[in-house]
Amino acid sequence: MKKLEVELCGIRMKNPLMLAAGVLGISPSLLKRVADAGAGAVVTKSLGVEQREGFSGPVLVDLGYGLLNAMGLPNPGVREFCRELEEFGEIGVPVVASIYGFSVEEYVEAAAYAERYVDAVELNVSCPHVEKVGVQFGQSPELLREVVEAVRSAIRKPVFVKLTPNVTNIAEMAVIAEDAGADAVVAINTVRGLAINPELRRPELSAVFGGLSGPAIKPIALRCVYEIYQRVNIPVVGCGGVSTWRDAVEFLMAGASAVQIGSAVYYRGVSVFSEISRGLAEFLNSSEFSSVEELVGIAHRST
Ligand SMILES: Cc1cc2nc3c(=O)[nH]c(=O)nc-3n(C[C@H](O)[C@H](O)[C@H](O)COP(=O)(O)O)c2cc1C
Repeated sequence: MKKLEVELCGIRMKNPLMLAAGVLGISPSLLKRVADAGAGAVVTKSLGVEQREGFSGPVLVDLGYGLLNAMGLPNPGVREFCRELEEFGEIGVPVVASIYGFSVEEYVEAAAYAERYVDAVELNVSCPHVEKVGVQFGQSPELLREVVEAVRSAIRKPVFVKLTPNVTNIAEMAVIAEDAGADAVVAINTVRGLAINPELRRPELSAVFGGLSGPAIKPIALRCVYEIYQRVNIPVVGCGGVSTWRDAVEFLMAGASAVQIGSAVYYRGVSVFSEISRGLAEFLNSSEFSSVEELVGIAHRST
């Protein structure tokens, strides 16, 4: 058997597959379920300084080719989540805390609190449906630099920055994140979208706009990873529409060092992790590559 293990910013993972933020990661017991199902690492639901209810329904619509969601970042608050995590005990795989804030100070406070309990922090500067979280930070070069610099200098654990595709040039934002001290970038968060119900004659989601995820956004996410890989030296984590081992291989070849999976867990359940890692192992075994790491970025070398 060939090597599925990868190392991401010093964090060792048994395979490159991670649970994406917000999908199932709302409680430690669900994180453990995903870990037991074969994920290499897990990312929590985005956590803020204060507890949030999120929006009232409908918050999610299944379009068949993808999901459109506007959950409104419901979460118990970083302190309560970390208390539950400590009380629960070992998850079994590395845990990444996804963090959001309504100000630079809130990002710093939440990240500094969470870092004692987790292996890395992922800054959600890319939520497309909660005002002032996505738009304010992830789409402004100045604010992105400010928040990444502030969190980087406040904590010791690796800082991942999750980027939004809802910008003109995502690679430019990745360069800014790297320059500000990010240890890795995650691409991508959801694509801002809209669905309208003709019978009801109104938008499907109570928040009107939502974030599109799942198979529909895979080519966009893959393009983003490819463009970012050409511009930065830090690891890129791919995310967006991964549901088969072939999707995962495409992201690795585009330049991703690891791959996050979100909507496929909704569509196929947690067994998606063992299915994809088995497929990945079989692909490696039938190839000349001896490890996952050898696949990273090879699509760039053949063009
Ligand atoms: C229901 C739902 C909730 C999400 N919540 C979050 C979140 O709290 N924080 C975050 O950074 N991303 C969140 N996302 C975005 C995912 O982490 C991921 O970036 C996106 O769904 C694309 O990956 P996928 O196509 O594999 O789902 C959420 C996605 C979905 C579908």
